[in-house]
Amino acid sequence: MESIKIASLRLENVKRVRAVSIVPTENGLTVIGGRNGQGKTSILDAIAWALGGDRYKPTAAKREGSVLPPDLEIRLSNGLLVQRKGKAGALTVTDPQGKRYGQTLLSEFVTTFAIDLPKFLNATDKEKADTLLRIIGVGDALRALESREKETYNRRRAIGQIADQKEKFAREMPTYDGVPDAPVSASELIRAQQEILVRNGENQRKRERLNAITLKKHGLFDDLRRADEQIEEMKKRRDELMARYNETVQDEEAALKTVSELQDESTAELEANIAMVDEINRKVRANLDKERAEDDARQMRGEYDTLSAQLESIRGEKRALLDGAALPLPELTVEDGKLLYKGYTWDGMSASEQMIVGTAIARALNPACGFVLLDKLEQMDLETLRGFAAWLEAEGLQAIATRVSTGEECQIIIEDGEAVEGKTDKPQETFTPRGWTEGMF
Ligand SMILES: Nc1ncnc2c1ncn2[C@@H]1O[C@H](COP(=O)(O)OP(=O)(O)OP(=O)(O)O)[C@@H](O)[C@H]1O
Ligand SMILES: [Mg+2]
Repeated sequence: MESIKIASLRLENVKRVRAVSIVPTENGLTVIGGRNGQGKTSILDAIAWALGGDRYKPTAAKREGSVLPPDLEIRLSNGLLVQRKGKAGALTVTDPQGKRYGQTLLSEFVTTFAIDLPKFLNATDKEKADTLLRIIGVGDALRALESREKETYNRRRAIGQIADQKEKFAREMPTYDGVPDAPVSASELIRAQQEILVRNGENQRKRERLNAITLKKHGLFDDLRRADEQIEEMKKRRDELMARYNETVQDEEAALKTVSELQDESTAELEANIAMVDEINRKVRANLDKERAEDDARQMRGEYDTLSAQLESIRGEKRALLDGAALPLPELTVEDGKLLYKGYTWDGMSASEQMIVGTAIARALNPACGFVLLDKLEQMDLETLRGFAAWLEAEGLQAIATRVSTGEECQIIIEDGEAVEGKTDKPQETFTPRGWTEGMF
């Protein structure tokens, strides 16, 4: 697409300007210098009015003290002649064949930001970022990603809060040591008790048998004593009894040995446990509840981590989307709906960086518009100015700028509304980019 430049301009009796003719550098920077209040900005205002329409007409357009109304004439590189003259400052646009056009044609290639950069500079962060996204054509995709990012972020935050609550809840629940993993049943304890009681009953029978034997021994002993009294006649009988007695003693010894090895099991613990069964089960349930709560919390934390990974991937997609887009300026990008240049948001950029970013964006908005008006370039030091001029040249962009200075960096010096220095009647030499290094911007 042909990039349209300002080939020459002649301005008379507009604002502070008496009469100024300029043939600006085709590619690069033309600096209009001068002291304060001499008419530098008036030149830019007049160009904006001539090309931008009546919206840009200065309030006091006619130079005070002039009998003649403003007379503006701008020749464009596509051959169009733009004029404003007469009391009303009426616009005429004529092509080399003499055909006439109107503002509509001009508006096709004169971008708002090119003649009114402050409009961009003063826009909100969001408007600036949206403009850039529109230029690089990723606005919709980025908005979709950002809405997914926001949605995922909000879901993660909600899940995170629930996870926190559940973890806190689980932490505050009591834990009991020394109880079974599952609730115990009282009937099992009773069955165990009954088994012990059966075993103990057997022991009891054995004890009763011992008692019976012992009683029997005593009876025999008595008999023996009686037999002793009749020892003579009862000798035989005694021997017999003695034998039986000895036998019984042996039985007793055996029985006694068995009994002495007997040991009764205690049911005390079981009884206590039966009594405690409700208390135990309460604790068991508490432990199970706590486990469940911990499971819950773990699950929520897991979901939270999954959402974190999703967020990371959405953000990665966003970065890739922007990294893949053709940006109008290296190191210029959009993050979180804000412009970022060299890693800084608008309020972190220096005034000259802001102007560079704005110019790059104005340029990218409509490549058909080959020029840009820049006021107050004194914000750039000479080194920055040189780098900027070289960047403009490389971009094939024409910039007409003002600067409070009368130094050699100015191609034109304005004093009392007129050019006093500079070769205003032939093409301006490009401002030599001394000290400029490639890739400065
Ligand atoms: N219609 C007018 N006729 C004559 N003078 C005017 C008119 N309108 C504004 N001025 C004067 O022009 C001066 C501003 O001119 P201009 O903005 O072009 O100066 P400048 O060179 O850009 O100054 P600065 O360096 O301070 O920005 C003001 O001092 C104002 O008094
Ligand atoms: Mg000014």
